[in-house]
Amino acid sequence: MRPPDSGGRTLLEADALQATVGRLGAEITRDHPGGVVLVGILKGSICFVADLARSIAADCAVDFLGLVPYGTGGSRIALSKDLDVDVSGRDVVIAVDIVDSGLTVAYVRRLLSERGARSADVCTLLDRQPSRLLPVELRYVGLTIGNEYVVGYGLDFEERYRNIPLLYATEPESLRRAETASVPPLAER
Ligand code: IMP
Ligand code: MG
Repeated sequence: MRPPDSGGRTLLEADALQATVGRLGAEITRDHPGGVVLVGILKGSICFVADLARSIAADCAVDFLGLVPYGTGGSRIALSKDLDVDVSGRDVVIAVDIVDSGLTVAYVRRLLSERGARSADVCTLLDRQPSRLLPVELRYVGLTIGNEYVVGYGLDFEERYRNIPLLYATEPESLRRAETASVPPLAER
C-alpha cells in the first residue's frame, strides 16, 4: 500500500523507520534496565508501540490510552480508553506518534502523575516543533520535522493511510485532491 501521488515526499522508508525505532528502544533500555510501562496513545501510535516494545531489552508492560478532544478547537481532552495497568510507583514511557501542539502529551503526563507514576518520559516518533502551544519535555525523539502533514505507520488522514509501511509527508489538501482525481466516476467502475 502506497499513498496516492499527492506531490509529497517519503520521510522515512521502512528500513530507516526500523533503525530509528531501534535507536529509541536502545535509549529506553539504557535508561530503564529495571523495566518500564510503555503507554501508547491511540490510535496513531499502534505501529510505533508494536516495534518499540520489541526493541526494548528490559521488562516492558504495554498499555494504551484512548483520548478524545472536545470543546472549542479541541482544546479539552476526555478519556475513551483508560489504563488497565496500575502505574503507581513505576517508570512509564509515553509512546506517541507525533507531538504537535503538545496538549495531548501534557494531558497524559498530568494523568500519569496523578496516578502516582514514579516517572513519565515522552518518546515520540516525530516532533513538529513549529506548532507547539505548550512547552513539553521530550526525552526520546525519532525525527524532528517542519510544517508538513504526515501519514503512514499508524498516522492517518481521516482514518486512512495508517497501513502504509513508511512515513509520507504531504499536505491534507493535496491528499484530498489526489484522492478525488484517482476515484473514477461511478459510471466508469
Ligand atoms: P497534539 O495534542 O496537538 O500534540 O496532538 C498530537 C496528535 O494529533 C497526534 O497524536 C496525532 O494523532 C495527531 N496529529 C498531529 N499531526 C499529525 C499529522 O501530521 N498526521 C497525522 N496525525 C497528526
Ligand atoms: Mg488522526
